[in-house]
Amino acid sequence: MCGIVGYIGNKPVKQILIDGLRELEYRGYDSAGIAVLQNHQFSLFKAVGKLVNLEEKAKNFETTGFSVGIGHTRWATHGKPTELNAHPHLGSNSYVVHNGIIENYQELKNMLVLEGVKFLSQTDTEVIVHLFEYQLKSASTPFEAFRQTLEKLEGAYAILLVNAAANDTIFFAKHGSPMILGRNHEGETLFGSSDAALIGKCHEVIYLEDGHYGYATAQTVAMYDEKNRLVDLHFVPLSENKLSAQKEGYRFFMEKEIYEQSRVLADTLMGRLRDESIYFEELDSALFVGINEIKLCACGTSYHAAMVASYLLERHSKIRVSLEIASEFRYREPFLTQDTLFVVISQSGETADTLESLKMAKKAGLKTLVICNVDNSSMVRLSDASILTRAGIEKGVASTKAFATQVCVLWMLTLYLAGERKTLETTEIKRQIQLLRTLPAMVTVDEALHEQLRRLSKRYLHGHGFFFIGRDVFFPLALEGALKLKEISYLHAEGYPSGEMKHGPIALADPGLYTIALLPQHKLYDKTKSNVEELSARDSTICSISPLDFDKSDDHIRTQKSEDYMLEFFEMMVVLQLFSMEIAVRLGNDVDMPRNLAKSVTVE
Ligand code: M6R
Repeated sequence: MCGIVGYIGNKPVKQILIDGLRELEYRGYDSAGIAVLQNHQFSLFKAVGKLVNLEEKAKNFETTGFSVGIGHTRWATHGKPTELNAHPHLGSNSYVVHNGIIENYQELKNMLVLEGVKFLSQTDTEVIVHLFEYQLKSASTPFEAFRQTLEKLEGAYAILLVNAAANDTIFFAKHGSPMILGRNHEGETLFGSSDAALIGKCHEVIYLEDGHYGYATAQTVAMYDEKNRLVDLHFVPLSENKLSAQKEGYRFFMEKEIYEQSRVLADTLMGRLRDESIYFEELDSALFVGINEIKLCACGTSYHAAMVASYLLERHSKIRVSLEIASEFRYREPFLTQDTLFVVISQSGETADTLESLKMAKKAGLKTLVICNVDNSSMVRLSDASILTRAGIEKGVASTKAFATQVCVLWMLTLYLAGERKTLETTEIKRQIQLLRTLPAMVTVDEALHEQLRRLSKRYLHGHGFFFIGRDVFFPLALEGALKLKEISYLHAEGYPSGEMKHGPIALADPGLYTIALLPQHKLYDKTKSNVEELSARDSTICSISPLDFDKSDDHIRTQKSEDYMLEFFEMMVVLQLFSMEIAVRLGNDVDMPRNLAKSVTVE
């Protein structure tokens, strides 16, 4: 979602803040800003749009010697993406940056307005800085005012606040949104809403827990918990290697991430495949003792991966599976029993709805497992066990390689459980392990196919909508294909089970309705084919994706003949990713940072 950085030290602060924000920009990019405090004087720069606009605005600003700075990239929740709504927000003598949502901001704002406070922005964040200054009138110290401010805030937040009177200090707090504090051998202290902003700049960090707050100066860090008890500072080492992703010659991060799926899947599989069984170093089989049901919970693309797993787990591991969209799960008062293993799936490990669902499950006494791409993320730290997907940093907002690795891990988990529960013959487990070994080859992008998709994309720009259809695991793949297209092309697209079209959506069929039909050879081919024929007969424009000829389509994308539907799944996944990307390119859209979206959704 939004990105936060903070710095206390002697180096030129502007560049440090902007470099940190650049690492976080893909998480939110509708505006950005920095505030620098030096010799009790503030300098503030804000700009709408991408970070380059902020860099341009601040290009003549330089500092020498000690300073304190905070910076922010925004994904708007309250108020439009304007300069006034961009962070940092200011009071008379203080600035704040915030990630999250202050739920009681209106109530606090009303109170402050009655006290004569003037608000400049439409954001919830601005109440924090005014409330702080209001408390400062009666508090004994700025830190005490900060503590009193936090007591009055409801909602989720990661906050950095600076005040001119406390010239060398950053006040910080975390409650529901991620915040990391780091330090280095040069005596500098930094903050980031993700460690990506700190890698290469800090050798050790603390991942703050919910309820932690405190202050940092050049000399000291003091941190407290929600009961106002001083917390021991447990720094953990942070890799000093800059792992930040580069485009490496590709036009977009998304394109690079599609092309590197072969390599990252090899990483996902590494050390986990044995001849007749799956081995997860991270898993203790005790996790599954007494478990009669698996509940899979996630959002967006990760939810689609969960849905694929719901087919595989029931089919092969013979265990009851339920699926939960995290934002629904949280408020539907679910009936939870302790024989359920609660599995969350998340690329970032920070998605607010999924994280809160995980907390609910833990509170209800369920065993928990997270399948995640980011080590040390909130979900990984919170759950009983975790399996890392090893996709590497994913920068494209439209998730690609994270999905591929999630499905791969979930397939392996299915076989692991099938082995433990003896629900599949060893020969079948062995066969599927052999299939898994071929995945890196299966997703290698065929340049000729990419070229065909590039050419084909021009015929799919002006219809009145898309239906992606498929059956079985190809239904969640259809959902994922439609989501990819929506996110980056801004065209209306739906994923549908192909057998369900005749129950209503087929009424939309005409040449302006594009049907993208997933026709795998090895899973319900004839059934799906009949459904596509029904649409073809009603003149929908059909683009079929299949290794088999299909004479009722307008366009045909031929996939390889492979021996199993899961291999067809992965090949078709690549086709859908590239197809969406090429349509978005033709429409002139920003593929990596599509409008209105952000990479990591840390608000509910
Ligand atoms: O980090 P997460 O996997 O928890 O994120 C969940 C969704 O926000 C995410 O998958 C989103 O749908 C992507 N933009 C899809 O491309």
